Amino acid sequence: MIIQNIISVIAQTGPSMSIPGPYWLFTVLHWLILTLHLLAMNFLMGGVLLMIMAKNSPYRKLLFFENIKVFPTVMAATITLGVAPLLFLQVIYGEFFYSASIISGWQWLLIIPVLLVVYYLFYTASIKKSLSDSGRIKLLLISLTGLVFVSFTITMISDLASKPYLWAELYQSSPSGWSLNPSWGQTIFRWIHIMSGALAVAGIIIQLYVLYFDKVKGNRELLFFGGRVFLMGVLSAATAAVIYLLTLEPVVLRQFLHSPGLHVLTTAIVINIIIAFLVYKSSESLSPKPMVLTSAILAFVGVFLMVMTRHYLRLVFLEGKFDPAALQTSDDYSPLIMFLITFVIGLVALFWMLKKYFGSPEKA
Ligand code: HEM
Repeated sequence: MIIQNIISVIAQTGPSMSIPGPYWLFTVLHWLILTLHLLAMNFLMGGVLLMIMAKNSPYRKLLFFENIKVFPTVMAATITLGVAPLLFLQVIYGEFFYSASIISGWQWLLIIPVLLVVYYLFYTASIKKSLSDSGRIKLLLISLTGLVFVSFTITMISDLASKPYLWAELYQSSPSGWSLNPSWGQTIFRWIHIMSGALAVAGIIIQLYVLYFDKVKGNRELLFFGGRVFLMGVLSAATAAVIYLLTLEPVVLRQFLHSPGLHVLTTAIVINIIIAFLVYKSSESLSPKPMVLTSAILAFVGVFLMVMTRHYLRLVFLEGKFDPAALQTSDDYSPLIMFLITFVIGLVALFWMLKKYFGSPEKA
């Protein structure tokens, strides 16, 4: 009863809270950290997917053990970098996110045991010496199923959090937390869009291996393969995005096309076209390094812009219900300062780990 009252009050009026820092700074940090989380997730899911699917690829033939060994670490990075956006989400959109999480409570709670099993399987695949190659691939396949569950659940709940008008009925139909977001079409294409993006980013990471991994340095076949994976991922992401936009309610789509989200989205499309051109050129070039590095930097910017687009679309969904820019700011900046200090330390550690890994994968 209490939860139902909270849900219906938020659905009608939105939350009234204050945040411990300026809204613009919180939003930029939220975008940045979610970008890092998604990039780590892309490295993991794109890498696992390719390892399973691209059987005869140079990626699987040349980088089989190096990649399987790094998956547990990338998984740890994905989870750690997921905690930070969760903090921002709960500070700014907390009541929306938690209302949606309560409605699909059991699916949400299942994420934790599923992650534990996936983690265990990644470790087993990476350290158990007696396993055959096909045994390792089988473990990766089960892990991927778990990651699909986790990522789809997060997408489903993120979408539900933007739609307070669905909550009351869903909650009443199953107050114990078994309801699912009924917007299947939107959820599925949003998720396919994100997974295709993971493939595209994995393609760029493969090209980075060619620049920095001693074992495959200068390998043109791998460079070409990375480029093809990027192009496949981008085309599939673009197709899913168009279908996703077409499944939106006409009024939401119209408002989105009149919001800053349209400019951000257009810039992201242009950036991806530039990357596609660079990726194509780098496969032919005798000195691909500048092009691959530029593609990698632009891919980071591209994912950042996608995160921004997602933010503007959320604002359109919540229009009239909640305006985060109107939240009061408290004078106590100590949580923000503490966050910034630990964030910088975390980034330095992450950079150091990546440098070690790309510099000398065997030792790392
Ligand atoms: C390895 C497992 C994980 C995968 C595959 C994964 C995947 C994803 C995906 C696909 C999204 C985008 C959802 C969307 O916008 O539709 C996302 C967002 C998010 N993830 Fe993860 N995630 C993982 C682990 C985690 C963990 C453990 C946490 C929290 C501790 C977390 C926190 C978040 C948050 C808070 C967002 C949304 C942030 C926002 O809306 O601002 N993730 N994740």
